[in-house]
Amino acid sequence: MTPTGQSSHRDTQESPLDAIADEVLSEIRERGTYRHMRVLEGLQAPRMRVDGREVLLFAGSNYLDLARHPEVVEATERASREWGCAAGGSRLITGNLACHEALENEIASFFESEAALAFNTGYMANVGVIPALVGPGDVLVSDELNHASIIDGAKLARTKVAVFRHGDLDSFAETLERVRPTARRALVAVDGVYSMHGDVAPIAEIVKRAHELDAMVLLDDAHGTGCLGTRGRGTAEAAGVLGEVDILMGTLGKSLGSFGAFVAGSAKLRDLLVNTARSFIFSCALAPPQVEAARVSLRLIDEEPWRRARLIENCDRLRSGLASAGISTAPSTTHILPIVLGGNERTMAVCEALLERGYYAQGIRHPSVPRGHARLRVTPMATHAEAEIDGLVNAIDELVRRIVE
Ligand SMILES: Cc1ncc(COP(=O)(O)O)c(C=O)c1O
Repeated sequence: MTPTGQSSHRDTQESPLDAIADEVLSEIRERGTYRHMRVLEGLQAPRMRVDGREVLLFAGSNYLDLARHPEVVEATERASREWGCAAGGSRLITGNLACHEALENEIASFFESEAALAFNTGYMANVGVIPALVGPGDVLVSDELNHASIIDGAKLARTKVAVFRHGDLDSFAETLERVRPTARRALVAVDGVYSMHGDVAPIAEIVKRAHELDAMVLLDDAHGTGCLGTRGRGTAEAAGVLGEVDILMGTLGKSLGSFGAFVAGSAKLRDLLVNTARSFIFSCALAPPQVEAARVSLRLIDEEPWRRARLIENCDRLRSGLASAGISTAPSTTHILPIVLGGNERTMAVCEALLERGYYAQGIRHPSVPRGHARLRVTPMATHAEAEIDGLVNAIDELVRRIVE
């Protein structure tokens, strides 16, 4: 019925939208990859309510537990009062607030780069940066496990993409050497820490070879920022090449406990992005509370190094506890620990049974990981207690034995 009470042909026929949804969703269900969103309640912390049940959270990206830090919370309150809750426009119209410029200057000095530019998310940074640097006639050389936002950025750029085997330096060098001569420009893109595997790109060797062949390097350090390196500058610092990566992308919404992302690099890169990155130009600027929270978090990375140290200790404890139970977390060397269980059903069964025991570690299936490689993805936080880590190890051990073996 229409609002006026007249009958419509839709009363008798399925709408095109319903038909599309039914067709696509039933295919997804048949593949066993149907997803639903869990509902979380409470303060961002190691313990939260998930779908009404209080559990220990081993599934988030608030690795350093900064999202509820009193100084970070206070910064958002102060910013709302002083600046208001919105930027009120895009950066090139009315949204370029002094706090954005201050954040970008602080990011640049934190990462020892000439300049930085904030983006609204890491996804938007990648889909903005890649088309700003390469297009038809150019090539993007990309690790096969790169994040979806790099893949989508390449699609928007309409550039040729040359994919190399994950983390494989021989495959990388061979691919770059093969495609470089015929490409006008070449951009190499890698994740710093692979979000579903927890391993780290061999960024020092990649930067060296790329620069020898006159190619630019984009490092997506969404998960390394704040956690890796002796001072939390991320994957490039850990590899001794901070300042050598041409385009360093990091996020503000994971270890920094706020929201948004940034690109750090040269002043010319910043100028180019301000003038050409469409996801930067055609979108409202980050809200001041998020900007001020990120500024405080950056300072806390330096002032509270114990958080990074505790995160590493917790991960080491989890990794060695699982190894003693015969459970591998390879190839992870970081704070993202995968337990590959193979099939979708058994993975989701372990995930659900863990929730019943009070632990939330997300089950990950295709398309986030290759088919047949479904896994539990476990992400400890700096502030989990040792007993909480040990409890998780025991629960995983028992469930993997019962459900998988
Ligand atoms: C490697 C990687 N890059 C980019 C992103 C996107 O960042 P954001 O969540 O800020 O959009 C993610 C998100 O998880 C990621 O894992």
